[in-house]
Amino acid sequence: FRAPCGDFTVCARHQEAPPCIPFGLASVFSGRISRKSVSHTEDIGDTMADNKRYRNPTEVQMSQLVLPCHTNHRGELSVGQLLKWIDTTACLSAERHAGCPCVTASMDDIYFEHTISVGQVVNIKAKVNRAFNSSMEVGIQVVSEDLCSEKQWSVCKALATFVAHRELSKVKLKQVTPLTEEEKTEHGVAAERRRMRLVYADTIKDLLARCAIQDDLDSKDYSNMVPAEKTRVESVELVLPPHANHQGNTFGGQIMAWMENVATIAASRLCRAHPTLKAIEMFHFRGPSQVGDRLVFKAIVNNAFKHSMEVGVCVEAYRQEAETQRRHINSAFMTFVVLDEDDQPQKLPWICPQPGEGERRYREASARKKIRLDRKYIVSCKQAEVPLSVPWDPSNQVYLSYNNVSSLKTLVAKDNWTLSSEISQVRLYTLEEDKFLSFHLEMVVHVDAAQAFLLLSDLRRRPEWDKHYRSVELVQQVDEDDTIYHVISPSLSGNSKPQDFVILASRRKPCDNGDPYVIALRSVTLPTHCETPEYQRGETLCSGFCLWSEGDQLTKVSYYNQATPGLLNYVTTNVAGLSSEFYNTFKACEHFLLDNRNDLAPGLQTL
Ligand code: COA
Ligand code: ADP
Repeated sequence: FRAPCGDFTVCARHQEAPPCIPFGLASVFSGRISRKSVSHTEDIGDTMADNKRYRNPTEVQMSQLVLPCHTNHRGELSVGQLLKWIDTTACLSAERHAGCPCVTASMDDIYFEHTISVGQVVNIKAKVNRAFNSSMEVGIQVVSEDLCSEKQWSVCKALATFVAHRELSKVKLKQVTPLTEEEKTEHGVAAERRRMRLVYADTIKDLLARCAIQDDLDSKDYSNMVPAEKTRVESVELVLPPHANHQGNTFGGQIMAWMENVATIAASRLCRAHPTLKAIEMFHFRGPSQVGDRLVFKAIVNNAFKHSMEVGVCVEAYRQEAETQRRHINSAFMTFVVLDEDDQPQKLPWICPQPGEGERRYREASARKKIRLDRKYIVSCKQAEVPLSVPWDPSNQVYLSYNNVSSLKTLVAKDNWTLSSEISQVRLYTLEEDKFLSFHLEMVVHVDAAQAFLLLSDLRRRPEWDKHYRSVELVQQVDEDDTIYHVISPSLSGNSKPQDFVILASRRKPCDNGDPYVIALRSVTLPTHCETPEYQRGETLCSGFCLWSEGDQLTKVSYYNQATPGLLNYVTTNVAGLSSEFYNTFKACEHFLLDNRNDLAPGLQTL
């Protein structure tokens, strides 16, 4: 069902930028921090103003007038105060869904697009995107509003995970039922984000170990450097009842605010100016803290780059009666810049780390900078600028796999699919959006969903039913769920060359009832499999299968494909009358599944 390769592939020469994927792992905004207003009014404001619209039952809103007591030296809302409001709003949303007290488990990376000035209003909106077992992902939107001009600005988006707690029993949360397209997208992608969050620490550790950053310490002129030691900060806080919920658990937002405070002091000691916080990396609350705890905050500048610096903060808790028994509560990394009067980032002094631990942190900060860039590039809204085939390397594999699955889930969640035709219960749906014409084919097959998943997720078996796959070589088994294949397709017409594709296949089992099995396919580039004169290199943007279990031995099989203009003619010819090619290929897939329903290859059974 397509030109070669069964996935709507596109010749590299015709490639188009892929679509924007909203709300990645981290909700990223492009553009530098600026106090200046942007000229447009966000439509978020309309949503906020219009009470008659559909409202998610878990949605909670908070509006705060920014007073001088909330601001820093620049007359801007301090990020610490904002984090407290974000955490409170999100917690109340989580508790509305859970019906019991909740604590902050983590807060994903936050990028601040705008600062908020004294006198403005900050509007915060939070809703539960998805509930898992005892945890929930809460999506938060922060918009600032100028009361005089009525202008509104998007300040940041955030994603927090809250865990529900009951004193005597383990909590099993009720599921969230998404209704709108946006809710369905967030619901689908939340499972993928959770997967990344839970391996976040290991991923970063692994990437830091592999990332060969060449440091320039030996070649630097130490006389112009600020010793890192001069930026070291230590501060203690006593947790009092106003810092905690009614069960005595310290608010996550309060801890984040204290962390931001010490980080700002450390950053100021390097630049001897008033720094602005630009980004916060994942906060993970490793263990609880209660009223009566003493919290010790330690911060230091780990590295200074040309226009930004990384400050690390570590938080430990102890009780008065056991001062030596310290519990690690949190560690986080924050990126600061120093803005001049025109809001341009200023050049920062170089930092000279302490030998040993300091040098290790200096190198790790450089590596984290690279990881952050990779992550922002692949996961964020900036994906519109990513080429169709992204080079595959160990430092971005987690994000490419995430991107692969979330792109497909985003396509699946679209609510404007239209049924174009139906032949013998094979349905063809199409979706027209901007530059893309997407389609999906759907049928119900008498086979177990888990088995169909195993059969379809091994691309080596695809030539058995799809004549557009001439041969498939397994290039790399990246991990249990991600595999790279080299696919050769027959030529489109008699006198053109055969095509080849390097495809990343990422598969996911359902997260809970109602969730589909997912097999997502996208092109990547590999240095070991460069273009050769023998083949014309093809690329696939976003395609794959979703399999819904519809009962015992009954599975709804859907194949999705997002086609770029290079292939429109081919697609529209098929779409116009559900040409026999689409239909025959999908029917061949059904026969393949039925023929192999009890007969899995040994290699597959172990997957
Ligand atoms: N990010 C997001 N969720 C996480 C997580 C992380 N880094 N680590 C664990 N979780 C989730 C798990 O996925 C699980 O969710 P599920 O029940 O929906 O599957 C849930 O937390 C419980 O996980 P579990 O493995 O049983 O417990 P744990 O020993 O990993 O503890 C916390 C997780 C969050 C409960 C624990 O670390 C904690 O109490 N942290 C402090 C929370 C707090 O008090 N915050 C306020 C400020 S201190
Ligand atoms: P790591 O040392 O691997 O970065 P930690 O969790 O120990 O991880 O610390 C996180 C960050 O907190 C460090 O990178 C550093 O910036 C800061 N930090 C840790 N310990 C201290 C300390 N004793 N004094 C000042 N800052 C510290």
